[in-house]
Amino acid sequence: MIIAIDGPAGSGKSTIAREVSRRFGFAKLDTGAMYRSVALTALRRKVDLADENAVAELAQSISITFGAECHGNVSVFVDGQDVSDAIRTPEVDRNVSAAAANAGVRRAMLVPQRLFAEGRDVVAEGRDIGSVVFPHAELKLFLTADPRERARRRVLQRHEGEAVDEGLLSAEIAQTLADIERRDALDSQRAAAPLVCPDDAVRIDSTSFTIEQIVDQIERLIEERR
Ligand code: DC
Repeated sequence: MIIAIDGPAGSGKSTIAREVSRRFGFAKLDTGAMYRSVALTALRRKVDLADENAVAELAQSISITFGAECHGNVSVFVDGQDVSDAIRTPEVDRNVSAAAANAGVRRAMLVPQRLFAEGRDVVAEGRDIGSVVFPHAELKLFLTADPRERARRRVLQRHEGEAVDEGLLSAEIAQTLADIERRDALDSQRAAAPLVCPDDAVRIDSTSFTIEQIVDQIERLIEERR
């Protein structure tokens, strides 16, 4: 069985995919981590992200693999080297949309994404999972949340376990909100596999539900489709 979870940045896709994977034993595929790995490798190798052919070639030549879970995230490797932390920096955040908008990069990612799902139950999260990668997924979800709430979650996640001044926190939330809105616009308006809600997807607004309530709802949907 394949569960496709799409939605904008900070809508809760990763958290929900992780909980679904834990509760029902599905393998979790984080496709955003793959685009992040391409952007990171281009930055490291000084390949201009605006050079579409060069970046697409690079995407085809590297091998992106996933390892065990660490701090709640699956580890990510590029050609065997652990990049789990390096793909989550603000520099990669700023550059990943260019890699994700590249049609050649997206073509290169399709093969490993589909291979990942062969012969097992998978929960895959991204922007084009239900529309392009797994159009025949048994269950498609489209997660949304109020943009300010999404920015707040991102910032709190960044400072988990730290004591941070309230004023600094709200300034960071305002900046993150602007970044999120910019990225949403880029992801939704690009020509190659833009973020869309597939017609047959179940829309869930995560703003006012707990993670557990959402996963309970998904459990009912899984049972209906089994
Ligand atoms: O979910 P994330 O923030 O890790 O995604 C990183 C970027 O990759 C984001 O700009 C959207 C893009 N992306 C995409 O275009 N298609 C996917 N299936 C997953 C992510």
